[in-house]
Amino acid sequence: MLINKAIFPVAGLGTRFLPATKAQPKEMLPVVDKPLIQYAVEEAYAAGIREMIFVTGRSKRPIEDHFDMAYELEMELEAAGKAELLALVHQVKPDDMECVYVRQAKMMGLGHAVLCSERLVRNEPFAVLLADDLMVGTTPILKQMVEQFEEWRASIIAVQEVPADQTRRYGIVDGTPVNDRMMDITAIVEKPAPEDAPSLLGVAGRYILMPDVFSEIRAQPRGVGGEIQLTDGIAGLLRRQKVFAYRYEGKRYDCGSKEGFLQANVELALAHPEVSASFREYLKSLDI
Ligand code: G1P
Repeated sequence: MLINKAIFPVAGLGTRFLPATKAQPKEMLPVVDKPLIQYAVEEAYAAGIREMIFVTGRSKRPIEDHFDMAYELEMELEAAGKAELLALVHQVKPDDMECVYVRQAKMMGLGHAVLCSERLVRNEPFAVLLADDLMVGTTPILKQMVEQFEEWRASIIAVQEVPADQTRRYGIVDGTPVNDRMMDITAIVEKPAPEDAPSLLGVAGRYILMPDVFSEIRAQPRGVGGEIQLTDGIAGLLRRQKVFAYRYEGKRYDCGSKEGFLQANVELALAHPEVSASFREYLKSLDI
């Protein structure tokens, strides 16, 4: 197993979901019945990763509590003989999964968040998952990327085609195709205006990165929005070594936006064994 560690930058304020996020982390907002962060952690686990590194900040304690034991709850469920619910609670953190927390005292951007975990990652390739991007695929997206990594042994970034008027929301890559899903990246730019975008391939929130990216992030000046950008670190990295873009098989819900969050709730509810049938009927009954 080559990728053992995943970084989850979760220090962001979540202002787009105020007031819901006034006193709770945006990563704890549930899609149907699971918080966003749990989907991302499950995806990393399904890719074989067992060490989860959370880069947290103030008022993010509920995330730590979520991946900890809940003694009172578990004792009550056990006493009440609710075995299924107890199993559900246990599954949040399987015994072979380790959770580590590091604080990002000042929010200085995604690149800075990744840098905060440098001492925990050390000198090995690692994954980064942005919980805002809820990714669904028959094969989990990060697992697809780990499989590619085993073949190419270089940094790999998940990409998807984005609408021409939305390039300002993404890192945008350019490169040379090496097969129908992989591209050798020649350029990457953070949030370009449509007229400056080198292509319409936008970065989705899944990365496998070589540890050399840390020194590159450190070497970059502040980027878009005055922040230390991961994208700029990757731009530095690709001057030294190969970085690939991978068109993943599956779907991404932008749960950093209200619309994407609502779409994720509707579509995952329609696929949820407990509620899908009745929810489908309900949607049909709506006069819209
Ligand atoms: C971040 C990255 C951006 C990427 C996006 C995917 O931006 O900086 O390159 O395309 O995630 O969701 P953010 O959405 O945090 O502004």
